[in-house]
Amino acid sequence: MSRVVLTGAGGSLGTDVLPALLAAGHEVVAVDLAPPAAADGVLPVRADVRDLDQMRAACRGADALLHLAGIPLEAEPDDLWDVNIRGTQVALEAARLAGIRRAVLASSIHAVGFHPVPAGVVGTGGPSRPDDAPGPGNAPAPLTPVEDDIPPRPNTFYGVSKVALEALGHLYADRFGMEVVLMRIASRQAEPTSRRHLQTWLSPADAGRLVVSALAAPVDGCITVWGVSANVDRYVADTGASSLGFVPTDDAGAYREAVESRGVEDDPSVGWLHLLGGEFCSPHPPRMIGTNPYREA
Ligand SMILES: NC(=O)c1ccc[n+]([C@@H]2O[C@H](COP(=O)([O-])OP(=O)(O)OC[C@H]3O[C@@H](n4cnc5c(N)ncnc54)[C@H](O)[C@@H]3O)[C@@H](O)[C@H]2O)c1
Repeated sequence: MSRVVLTGAGGSLGTDVLPALLAAGHEVVAVDLAPPAAADGVLPVRADVRDLDQMRAACRGADALLHLAGIPLEAEPDDLWDVNIRGTQVALEAARLAGIRRAVLASSIHAVGFHPVPAGVVGTGGPSRPDDAPGPGNAPAPLTPVEDDIPPRPNTFYGVSKVALEALGHLYADRFGMEVVLMRIASRQAEPTSRRHLQTWLSPADAGRLVVSALAAPVDGCITVWGVSANVDRYVADTGASSLGFVPTDDAGAYREAVESRGVEDDPSVGWLHLLGGEFCSPHPPRMIGTNPYREA
């Protein structure tokens, strides 16, 4: 058993992965501004990831940091710098001071969102697989998957904050010898709801499997991995995640009929399938609505 400091434990992804952490035998220090209730193996801690003293107290005696806390969408740049960048640096610093070696950080596909989707992927406007692809005997054109560690090309200020999170992960590995896993999570949702999700979905169960693998596998320095399920239309590489022993089992293809029965006018991803970040690359990306709850008084 090891003790894992899970930041953002009260959030959507934190709630998804908590059962998998407990099932893997971890004790979880559940850090959040609004942490979940105490339970067997769950120690709730109300703390702000930007507060070094609070984070040092949470990290005392722990073996690993799983840092999910943050603003998960486009928002005011100052808030993103404060919560997603400063919060990540403080969480990593607290972990380092507590002698924690393993840190698993939630990055995002939006750190690289303006990279094009590989030619040949269904729905992007290029030749589609498999029927009209060139090749002997009309064989499908080989698809070159998007590597795990393609360079930054953020599509939002949110994406910029995740580029900085990744840079902090590299710094804490290179300078302080920590073992860091950067998860470029794509579309983590209960179910796929858009055509883009058929390619980019990460199921809740696979998210749990991914973080359990990322906490346990041998890691040398800092590694970047895609967080995507075993979708039949997936176009990102599985090199990094499989090197951790992560085996995704869910496939967005099982939802194809339901997704494609929706009119294209109700699907915000249509028209944006040629870019990794989809509709988040538009001049008006989906963003946090209403008053930002993360702004300090
Ligand atoms: N949902 C996705 O598809 C997706 C995709 C890529 C990356 N991510 C990343 O995964 C992480 C979790 O996303 P989510 O969907 O669960 O978001 P969420 O908003 O549901 O959860 C985030 C949690 O962080 C907490 N939090 C925010 N600021 C904090 C602070 N200063 N101190 C302590 N806790 C704080 C919030 O209270 C919340 O419970 C985020 O870093 C997000 O950027 C999510």
